[in-house]
Parts: sequence; structure tokens; C-alpha cells
Amino acid sequence: MFDAVIVGGGIIGHSISYHLNKSGIHSAVIEKGQSGKKATRAAAGMLGVHTENEAPDLFHHFCLMSRNIYTSLSEELLELTGIDIGLSSFGMYQGALTAQQKEKLLVKEASFSNLKWLEGEQLKSRIPWLTESVIGALYMGEDGHVEPSHVCEAFKRGALLHGGELFEDSTVLDIEQSKDSFNIQIENEILKAGKVIIASGSESGRWFEKTGMQNPIVPTKGECFSVDDGRIGLKETLFFENFYAVPKRDGRLIIGATSKSFDSSAAVTAGGISSLMNNVFAVLPELTEAPLLDYWSGIRPGTVDGRPIIGEHPYLSGIYFATGHYRNGILLAPATGQLMRDIIKEGNNNVYGDLLSPGRLLRKGENMYEPSS
Ligand code: FAD
Ligand code: GLY
Repeated sequence: MFDAVIVGGGIIGHSISYHLNKSGIHSAVIEKGQSGKKATRAAAGMLGVHTENEAPDLFHHFCLMSRNIYTSLSEELLELTGIDIGLSSFGMYQGALTAQQKEKLLVKEASFSNLKWLEGEQLKSRIPWLTESVIGALYMGEDGHVEPSHVCEAFKRGALLHGGELFEDSTVLDIEQSKDSFNIQIENEILKAGKVIIASGSESGRWFEKTGMQNPIVPTKGECFSVDDGRIGLKETLFFENFYAVPKRDGRLIIGATSKSFDSSAAVTAGGISSLMNNVFAVLPELTEAPLLDYWSGIRPGTVDGRPIIGEHPYLSGIYFATGHYRNGILLAPATGQLMRDIIKEGNNNVYGDLLSPGRLLRKGENMYEPSS
């Protein structure tokens, strides 16, 4: 019998397994395919603490904490597993193409003491390839990125080295409560665990329904492509309202991403990629000459109110959720693993209260999902 079984072997499931097993809570991840091949593999890996937040509120605090954990985690995982998670700390520019966008970014600058607005000429002196259409950018010097697949693999191996277990090519078909434990049914076997943690990304919805809640998951498709960035040699990430460009250490430049809610289809569409190309070429025309490397899609686990769902089921003890990380699952993986470890070790003492708790979904509010009857 396991102390905990985690349903889903993406970056979130493996981060939780790593943190639980490291602290002596014997846990297994069950993954229906191969680990890290769904939303985790599609991600650009940005640690966009300030691109994804407008003000220093509690959610920003959670993002910041997670980004900061990456610094020590990068060394810890390298030492333990030999995997370099590709942490880059060159910073990000959130650019403006219109006066309205500039206005918004100036408000953001005023809210955060560590961000700095640069006018167009200042920005061009740093990145000469940019066109005049960029009227300025907010510099976020501490926000970088990682290689999502490497992080997931390092968590996976780290968890195994700490005594964890992993079942791949094993779909969780059902979960039944029996007295004070759970029976987790995979194809030819029933596993027993004291606790169950749902971390199945965009496919988590059915487990809310199974446990008496409305399905709060909004699968949101995203498409990306990559080019060889050899000529431009961009160091910092560029982030605009309709695209971003993330330069990886190996010379790949990842351009993302489209966004379509309630779309779980796998196809990469010509229209999606061409809209990204039009957007990025308008700002970095030199990229039209760059060799095209790859294109792909992934399904973000969005939620009805845009926030992750992390914590124990509101009335079924022993069932936990760690899902709905939407655009920020890579950024938030370390803090999610630590928070879930603390919640499981110390009871349901979630310092983030209703911000992340599954219980908030029971209270009907402005953004809450109401099924059409
Ligand atoms: P997943 O990685 O999808 O893992 C869930 C796993 O559960 C899957 O492997 C699946 O096979 C498994 N599973 C499902 N059902 C079952 C079952 N019944 N039994 C067993 N296993 C099951 N985030 C950032 O922070 N920064 C970024 O720059 C960024 N860029 C992105 C770009 C794109 C195009 C996309 C699509 C997403 C991006 N994200 C980014 C978001 C990020 O990828 C996700 O939030 C994150 O990967 C979610 O991780 P997860 O482990 O919850 O889900
Ligand atoms: N965080 C970037 C994306 O989801 O596309």
C-alpha cells in the first residue's frame, strides 16, 4: 500500500511525487502514456512571474515563490539526477505595440518596484533587430525560463531515487474509497493508497464529476513553432500580447502561442501557425530567413476562474487536486509540489486559503461555471 498515489505523470504529478518521496511519504505516479508528453512537453518554459500578473497580490506571491525555488532546485536536481533543467536568467521584455498597451505596462511598472520601462530607442539599442513598431517594453530582469521536459524528467528520476514508484502506460480507470484507504484501478491491477492526488492536467475534469463536483476544467489548446535563432542571437525572452519568443540555450527560438478554449484537438493548424508567424515577423522581420525547426500543440489545463486548484476535496477526505495550472504549470510546479507536501503532512492547512482551494468551486460566484440544463 502506498501513502499516496498521484494520477498523472506531467510536471505537476512528478513535482508532487518528488517532494512527497523526499520527505518520506511513499508515493507512486500513474501515467497513462509516457511521462511529460502532454501539456508539459508543449510548454515554452517561461517563468513569467510578471508577464502573467498585473499586481503584487497573493497569486503573484505564489508565482514568485515558485520561480525563486527554481534557483536552488536547479542545483539540487543536477546533483541528484545529473539532469540540467536549462534554467535561464536573462530576463524578459514585455513589449508594447500601441499607446494603450504602453499605458497598461506603465501601470504595471508602478505596481512592481523591480520592473523598468524602456522607450523604443533604449530597447532598440539592446535588440537592434526590432522594428520601429515596438514603442517600448517593460524589462523584467529576474524572470527567465527552463526546459519543461528536463524539469519533468529530473523530478521523475529524483522521486524514484527517493524511493518513489512509477507506473507508465497505465490508465487510472476508477478510484473507489474503501474504509480508510483507496482502491485505484488500472488496467490489470488494483493499487491501494492512503491518499489520492489528481494531477491529470486537462483531463482532470472527470474526477471532479466523479467526486460530486462540477467540472471546472477548461481545456485550452495552444500551438507553437520553433526556428533556429543563429542569426539574431536573442538572449532575453520577448513577450507581446499576441506572441512570445523564447530563446533556448541550444539555439532554438520558440514562438508561441495560440489560445483556444474548450479545444482538446491535437492538430496543429496552418491558420494558427501562420497567425503566429505574421505577428512575430512584424516585430522581428529578420526571422523570415531563420530555418524552421518544428511545430506542435498542447492542451493547457485552464479553469473556470483562471486559477489552479490545489488542495483537499471540500468534503471527501483523502482526495486531493493539483491541477488547472493553465498557462503557468511550469512556473508553478515547484511551489505546487511543496504546497501539496505541506498540505498532506500538516493537514489541510493551505496558507493560500480560498485562492487555490477546491472548495472555492462550490461557492457560486461571478465566474463560476453553471451547467446548462
Ligand atoms: P500535463 O503535462 O498535461 O500532464 C498530465 C498527465 O496526466 C498527462 O501526461 C496525461 O497522460 C496524464 N493522465 C491524464 N489522465 C490520466 C489517467 N486517467 N490515468 C493516468 N494518467 C492520466 N506554462 C508555463 O509555466 N510557462 C510556459 O511558458 C508555458 N507555455 C505553454 C505553451 C503551450 C503551447 C501550452 C499548451 C502550455 C504552456 N504552459 C506553460 C502551461 C503548462 O504546459 C501546463 O500548465 C503544465 O504543463 C500542466 O502540467 P500538468 O502536469 O498538470 O499536465
Ligand atoms: N504561458 C504561455 C502559454 O501558455 O502559452
